[in-house]
Amino acid sequence: MAGSSPFRVEPLDATFGAIVTGVRVAELDAAGFEALYRTWLDYALLIFPGQHLTRDEQIAFARRFGPPEFEIAPISNVRADGSVRPEDGADDVIKVLKGNMGWHCDSTYMPVQAKGAVFTAHVVPDEGGETGWADMRAAYDALDPATRERIADLKAYHSLRYSQGKLGHEHKAGSAYSGYGMTVEEPPLRPLVKIHPETGRKCLAVGRHAFGIPGLGEDESERLLEDLAAFATQPPRVYHHKWAPGDAVVWDNRALMHRACPWDMTKPRVMYHSRIAGDPASEFAAHA
Ligand code: OGA
Ligand code: MN
Repeated sequence: MAGSSPFRVEPLDATFGAIVTGVRVAELDAAGFEALYRTWLDYALLIFPGQHLTRDEQIAFARRFGPPEFEIAPISNVRADGSVRPEDGADDVIKVLKGNMGWHCDSTYMPVQAKGAVFTAHVVPDEGGETGWADMRAAYDALDPATRERIADLKAYHSLRYSQGKLGHEHKAGSAYSGYGMTVEEPPLRPLVKIHPETGRKCLAVGRHAFGIPGLGEDESERLLEDLAAFATQPPRVYHHKWAPGDAVVWDNRALMHRACPWDMTKPRVMYHSRIAGDPASEFAAHA
């Protein structure tokens, strides 16, 4: 129908997020995508049930949001030969998947934080394995004035070696899976309060990669970061999605934290992640 929206938007019962139906995202025209992009900036998380994107469709859809940090990667406990990886404390891929179970934003440990991600479900367990997101815009808005003032000028280092180190995942030079992010030698230093480059909204920037706030003692820094993350992830600022194969989502990594929920890791879970690169003008952080 002329003039009508090319898709339907049903807001989640939270401060953010919407289910989008009535569209195949792979077939959106330029005007349709422009409307979708504005909706994405508003809601920060769009969920598209039943898309069943091919690999090429996922890459192409993600590219419409901006150039890739990486085009597509499996987030999976299944090996190429179809076997399920053992939860034996030795498999680095399992350690990365377990790391994803802590609240975080993607690539804050890289010089340039990610803009967002297109994420799709392929094989999902019957129970568990949901993905959660938390609204860091609403979290900032809900802080009491004293806390806002306390954190206004604070910064934290972000490191994947730090966050994975807590789980016993050590960086080993030359290890097949210790590569991405684990090779960063000098952690970037990022403000705890970040301005979203496209909406102008203030966002709380914490998560599991953050540590070592300069000017605070180690314990004080850890307690503050934990308290802020715990506050951010309370209702109505949080939503967990129960996946069905074929679901696709796109989230704004500048506005939301996310995490995977645990599942029985003897069961396969296969997801694909296309990471959209951050704009260095707003997402770059030097290490000091
Ligand atoms: C990721 C991630 C969460 C999940 O792919 O960056 O954190 O639910 N995934 O698998
Ligand atoms: Mn992640």
